[in-house]
Amino acid sequence: MSAAKPNVVLGLLGTTLDKGRSTKRWQRWRPTVDLARQRGLPIQRLELLYGPGSDALAAFVADDIQQLSSSTKVNLHSLLIHDWWDFENVYSALYDFAESYSFAPETHRYLVHMTTGSHVAQICWFLLVEARIIPGTLLQTAPPKSRNRSQPGQHTTINLNLARYDAIARRFSSRTEEDVSFLKSGIETRNASFNRLIEQLEKVALSSPAPILLLGPTGAGKSQLARRVYELRKRRRRVDGPFVEVNCATLRGDSAMSALFGHEKGAFTGAISSRPGLLRTAHNGVLFLDEIGELGSDEQAMLLRALEEHRFLPVGADQEVESQFSLLAGTNQDLGLRVSQGLFRDDLLARIDTWTFVIPGLSQRPEDIEPNLAFELARIETITGERVSFNHEAQNYFLTFATQAPWPRNFRDFGASLMRMATLAPGGRINKPTVLEEIQRLEDTWSRLSARPLVTATTLPEELGPIDRFDAIQLSDVLKVCAQSSSLSDAGRQLFAESRKKKPNPNDADRLRKYLSRHHLDFSSAQIFGRSLQSRVPGTR
Ligand SMILES: Nc1ncnc2c1ncn2[C@@H]1O[C@H](COP(=O)(O)OP(=O)(O)OP(=O)(O)O)[C@@H](O)[C@H]1O
Ligand SMILES: [Mg+2]
Repeated sequence: MSAAKPNVVLGLLGTTLDKGRSTKRWQRWRPTVDLARQRGLPIQRLELLYGPGSDALAAFVADDIQQLSSSTKVNLHSLLIHDWWDFENVYSALYDFAESYSFAPETHRYLVHMTTGSHVAQICWFLLVEARIIPGTLLQTAPPKSRNRSQPGQHTTINLNLARYDAIARRFSSRTEEDVSFLKSGIETRNASFNRLIEQLEKVALSSPAPILLLGPTGAGKSQLARRVYELRKRRRRVDGPFVEVNCATLRGDSAMSALFGHEKGAFTGAISSRPGLLRTAHNGVLFLDEIGELGSDEQAMLLRALEEHRFLPVGADQEVESQFSLLAGTNQDLGLRVSQGLFRDDLLARIDTWTFVIPGLSQRPEDIEPNLAFELARIETITGERVSFNHEAQNYFLTFATQAPWPRNFRDFGASLMRMATLAPGGRINKPTVLEEIQRLEDTWSRLSARPLVTATTLPEELGPIDRFDAIQLSDVLKVCAQSSSLSDAGRQLFAESRKKKPNPNDADRLRKYLSRHHLDFSSAQIFGRSLQSRVPGTR
């Protein structure tokens, strides 16, 4: 057996507990001096640290230690600590000491004496050992149990790396499992990539205040997940402010700025009182910008600044205000494409896509149909108060269909389908005829969806009269660009971005004006129609 490594103790001089120079001092428990007579803890070296003004006491204590244990070498180190309760001062002094000290953990065992010094110093020691800046073990000492204080006291060591702390680590990991399950609403999903995504989301949600972007097809559960992320942060005390949710597609025109950033009383006609705005309401909480791709260009610029500096100027205000919120954003649009179309700022996209999670559609998670089915039936029961179940044959039939079906609107279709079957189930029992009928209904709906021309997703207002699908696609995009632009020229520049490069005198505004007039539109009416368009495309396959 190899010989035990020699012990080296690092400790602070206890300006109260270690003091005393009369002979009575030997009747008192002095933690640093007592180190020299611990049974089973021979100390080869003591690195004794002390603050300004304690040189004499440090030397005195070192002498007493020498008397008790001549084989213990005491090295004195004076530290520049002015305030033992100032975290920064104490931490940096101890950190500098640790950095400059030559540790040799292969040949020596280091023990950090925690008993002396302020509570702040104890916390700093802990952090330094935990981060392995000091490759040591914590050492705690206490007075003797007997009333006779001239007897040696006791000691215990705490090795933060030892396996006995696995129990704590296990508790951490079961907490993580609990959090992951919370994000999944308790549904025991089986799809490996979805489960991995949720595990990462859990980590990010709890450890990073950076924006989180949730992408994925309509009905995949982005909005629901955003709410869960907030609730998880709240449970784990990462936020104490509110959850503020806004669908950016509903923010239109001048009122969008004031809805988001607030306004001062009298900022514009009709502003009879001031309004805090959603960003300020979300202070210390979470702002969820759903459909973020729909945000107008002025709002995008202001949001970027608010994200970078946590400050912004409310409409009509002459002073900036502060809001510490963390951002969640959701969209089913391709934001990269919107950037290339000039509809979304690249710098804003760069700021919000540090943590991007693409929530898969239901058809990409066939393994999860069954657990979701059980969850949905239980949910229906809580809503209707009635227990509904499948008979065996019907369930198999439905599962076979459902695991191969496209589910273009994902959980919206899935939830509605189960709700219909539950409603129609004779005596609360879903049988095969009910399933067959439902499958037919779904297939009819989906074939209608995919037969629908793409432009219905951006339904052009009826006022524009009957328009060929061919033209409608172009017109709807032009209208949307107008809605996001500040002027006819601005819209023209975006719409003719490529062809204008080849022209010595591009007149995009004129080109656009002529195009609009063919549809009996001017720029401002184009903007109004553009704003009323939903640019969302249903997830038809
Ligand atoms: N895992 C799930 N199980 C059952 N229902 C779910 C699940 N996730 C979401 N839902 C339900 O499906 C519906 C759509 O979810 P959600 O609104 O979160 O989708 P979304 O991805 O935000 O869609 P959109 O892009 O259209 O806004 C909601 O009613 C929601 O409660
Ligand atoms: Mg949503």
